[in-house]
Amino acid sequence: MDFSGKDKATYVQETFNSIAKSYDLMNTLMSFGLDKGWRRKAVRTVEAKPGMHILDVCCGTGQLAMEIAGTIGVSGKVTGLDFSENMLEKAKENIYSSPYQSLIALRQGDAMHLPFPDNTFDGATVGWGLRNLPNVGQGISEMLRVVKPGSMVVSLDMAKPTLLGFKQGYWFYFDKLVPWMGKIWAGKAKAYQYLHDSAVEFPSQQELARIFARCGLVETRYQNLLGGVVAIVSGRKA
Ligand SMILES: C[S@@+](CC[C@H](N)C(=O)[O-])C[C@H]1O[C@@H](n2cnc3c(N)ncnc32)[C@H](O)[C@@H]1O
Repeated sequence: MDFSGKDKATYVQETFNSIAKSYDLMNTLMSFGLDKGWRRKAVRTVEAKPGMHILDVCCGTGQLAMEIAGTIGVSGKVTGLDFSENMLEKAKENIYSSPYQSLIALRQGDAMHLPFPDNTFDGATVGWGLRNLPNVGQGISEMLRVVKPGSMVVSLDMAKPTLLGFKQGYWFYFDKLVPWMGKIWAGKAKAYQYLHDSAVEFPSQQELARIFARCGLVETRYQNLLGGVVAIVSGRKA
């Protein structure tokens, strides 16, 4: 992938800083409004329950953190971590206009080196985040390190559909239309081209589940959403 001569982390940080304002709208348009339901499934998979403290890595504009907050109740807590100031700024705005202000703490930090002690959280999620990391395995290992034994680690991300016909239609949509939509609606064709390229290079859901297992998670599995366009990959800390 072409990172314009920068290292991947710098390129990714600049890219998300540049699209933060239009991110939520573009996400809803590109997923035909299905993203909210997918996030809800991820919240069920992380087994969020009242009173729990869940970490949401690469929290972006806070959409997944807010879904989790709706489940953990007033005695629970969500910590959202991201390295993009502008995405976090947008998350603040979103959270302030939600009923979950007091439940969500935002923190700027690097998913590759989570600034938390071992065994801190009752579960960890990452939504459309792992494929942006310079090393997917290190990102998963960090999430595994900071959750308590018995807790779930859950990724929700683009995947690889396999159904013939559907698969071709999907790649046409993603190859041709997504960068075009990014250009027209957000004025950021290059950023949306990166979103496309990063999804192409990202491991399939089957391979990602194997990486989860190699990192030391047990009960690893994947759930396909929309014919495998998106998948939830999960595992438990033994
Ligand atoms: C596609 S957005 C996903 C946002 C959100 N999770 C959602 O569900 O919409 C990816 C986010 O990952 C963040 N990110 C990428 N690499 C990161 C890293 N190394 N550390 C922290 N955040 C990172 C970006 O800043 C961006 O906000």
